[in-house]
Amino acid sequence: MLNPMITARSTPNIALIKYWGNRHDAYRLPAADSCSITLDTPSVEVTVEHSPVFKLQSFLPDGTEKVLKEKDTARIEEHLRLTKEFLAKRNLPDAIPESVSIVIRSAIPPAIGIASSAAVFSALATAYSALASVNRALPLSDRDATIIARLGSGSAARSIFGGFVALKNKKDHEENKDIDSAYAEQIAPANHWALHDIIIVPTMEEKKVGSTEGHHLAQTSPMFQKRIEAITVLRQQECIDAILKKDFEALQQVTEEDCWDMHNVMQTQTPPLQYLNDETYRITEEIEDLRAQQHLPVLYTMDAGPTVHLFCEEEALDAIRAYAHAQKNCTIFEAKVGQGAIIKE
Ligand code: DP6
Repeated sequence: MLNPMITARSTPNIALIKYWGNRHDAYRLPAADSCSITLDTPSVEVTVEHSPVFKLQSFLPDGTEKVLKEKDTARIEEHLRLTKEFLAKRNLPDAIPESVSIVIRSAIPPAIGIASSAAVFSALATAYSALASVNRALPLSDRDATIIARLGSGSAARSIFGGFVALKNKKDHEENKDIDSAYAEQIAPANHWALHDIIIVPTMEEKKVGSTEGHHLAQTSPMFQKRIEAITVLRQQECIDAILKKDFEALQQVTEEDCWDMHNVMQTQTPPLQYLNDETYRITEEIEDLRAQQHLPVLYTMDAGPTVHLFCEEEALDAIRAYAHAQKNCTIFEAKVGQGAIIKE
């Protein structure tokens, strides 16, 4: 078996229709479809090679080595096991080595409310796919890479592609809980629509309850089932149509509706999860006012944290940048639409 050293690079993505809740926890099969924009920055690089024993090292943006928690290492080991289970289903049982050494180099500042797991697992999946393709003449498809990424972090499936991406359940998903019954697909490439993400981070504190734990309890919310139906019947398609037509107003309405709906589910599950803080509520209200007064093409969305993502078109960029930089005690980042995961030559 050939065992080259492979490095892949990837970036986070921000969901417009959010993934919250699973229909199968261990395989991270989402209860509903979702869709997102892949960002062009900040990036993560993951290097994988054969090793007689499993090894994992992770480096922070300043180059210092991160002290890994036992649960982080266990998650990556479990992901390797699941990747092998998936490859065995593809009749490629030993396409990747028994054990590997993994080095993660992240340029994502810790705890800024941009999930690094999406970038890490999409880069890792890209590296595993390349490794499997080197070992077997039959290359894995991009869709296979999205499935491998999903096994580590549901939202990571979407960062395999650049641009605008959907995470989809197979049509027969109500009966089908197979490991490969959800995958990501590109809706439109990065150059389809020049959107900007101005990111306002009110606190750099690390969140107490991660998304993985939160997903497991989503179904305890009395609002969960209704949200899944709304996405399945209407919202996901409305979002895809708005992207394809570059209809900003439609995109804004469906994105904000789904964002609040997800946070309502989070806040009513048992135990409740409150990821937003006073700053989040203040900023979103002010953006609504600004939009009404100046007719700016800007929308907001928040994931599992108080960080506000302000997506806007070029014409609103100066005003939104000025607004963001006027926020006291907040850290500001900027990103554009990115290209997704790649192998570094
Ligand atoms: C709120 O399970 O992908 O960001 O546990 O960090 O891997 P990690 O997250 P994941 O859940 C993401 C939840 C979300 C919404 C979304 O990105 O769709």
